[in-house]
Amino acid sequence: MTSAYKNARPVISATGLFTPADSISNDELVESFNAYVAQHNAQHAAAIDAGDVIALQPSSVEFIEKASGIKARKVLSKASILDIDVMCPRFDERPNDELSVLAEIGVAAARDALARAGRDAKDVDAVLVACSNLQRAYPAIAIEVQDALGIEGFGFDMNVACSSATFGIQTAADFIRAGNARSVLVVSPEICSGHLNWRDRDSHFIFGDVATAVLVEDADLAPAQHWDILGTQLKTRFSNNIRNNFGFLNRTAPESRDDADKLFVQEGRKVFKEVVPMVGELITDHIARLGLAPADLRRLWLHQANAGMNRLIAQRVLGHEASEDESPTVLDSYANTSSAGSIIAFHLHNEDLKPGDTGLICSFGAGYSAGSVVVRKVG
Ligand code: COA
Repeated sequence: MTSAYKNARPVISATGLFTPADSISNDELVESFNAYVAQHNAQHAAAIDAGDVIALQPSSVEFIEKASGIKARKVLSKASILDIDVMCPRFDERPNDELSVLAEIGVAAARDALARAGRDAKDVDAVLVACSNLQRAYPAIAIEVQDALGIEGFGFDMNVACSSATFGIQTAADFIRAGNARSVLVVSPEICSGHLNWRDRDSHFIFGDVATAVLVEDADLAPAQHWDILGTQLKTRFSNNIRNNFGFLNRTAPESRDDADKLFVQEGRKVFKEVVPMVGELITDHIARLGLAPADLRRLWLHQANAGMNRLIAQRVLGHEASEDESPTVLDSYANTSSAGSIIAFHLHNEDLKPGDTGLICSFGAGYSAGSVVVRKVG
């Protein structure tokens, strides 16, 4: 689609959600982790006694909940994650003519968004798969999702880690403003369990799996009930404090090489300290640019990484401790689902808002990256 549409104005027509059937509670997770620790320490008892190997320390449910606010995580491959001889998700390899697992959950979320908008997939012009962990280099997962849904037009993948969905929403909105598309699906399938080091005590509890979709469209096409996009604002600043070095240049890592950095690693405390002010400033600056006061924000749908970070960010923005109604949490049952987190919060907690109510979707994470989308309910 290339022709420009006059006065195109992007809005959010609907959102969609795919939630895996299985969930792992903190109790189940810690039981499995501690069994692995006991097995490891028993197997290396002599080396530990000789001071050649450091004994692993057990995890604790109390620590996890206190440090993160997470009580459970949804996963696609529960049995192999909890199996102490595997401790990662395992999926059967699929032939190339079968839908890949990442595309499959993305399609499920996209279908949900399309159904809620009453939109036929044939009337969608573009698909952006915006997520942290793409399962392959190419062809783009977005093109596979496009094909599975029977969408004409174009699709591509984009990765801005946990901020991918908000960056995708701005990209979709810009396509619509520029007349390059009228209806764009921003799909965020996140199989975070695949990049998490389930044997790392510091982070084994952080992530879960999910997929979300956001249908961004020209207001002329949108259903009567939709969300005006009042504005979007993005920010990035390079940091190594959240990093994953996995890639095709290091796929033949020798046995001797420590490959823990080919999974998610972070300096959690530094992230906490550095990202909170960055996001607080981004939101404060963004709403001021839009001529809004903090009190004009009826609800914040924040990225779901850590309950303490969200508490501090909301406090910086609103000037007071946010209630669950002002800043809802999905972290407790979904854990951190990377780019999908703020969209799940929006999806599950927007129906009670009234026409004219204004809210803010905000994501933040590796890069560092942060994205803010201010929306107002219509209809
Ligand atoms: N069970 C029990 N104790 C644990 C533990 C576990 N699973 N993991 C760590 N600990 C211990 C540590 O050994 C440390 O003990 P010590 O004080 O005796 O040395 C103590 O708990 C504190 O560890 P620390 O890693 O400093 O915890 P924290 O309070 O900073 O919380 C995070 C850790 C990761 C939850 C927190 O830093 C965080 O969420 N940061 C932001 C992360 C984020 O948003 N990342 C974005 C990803 S997209």
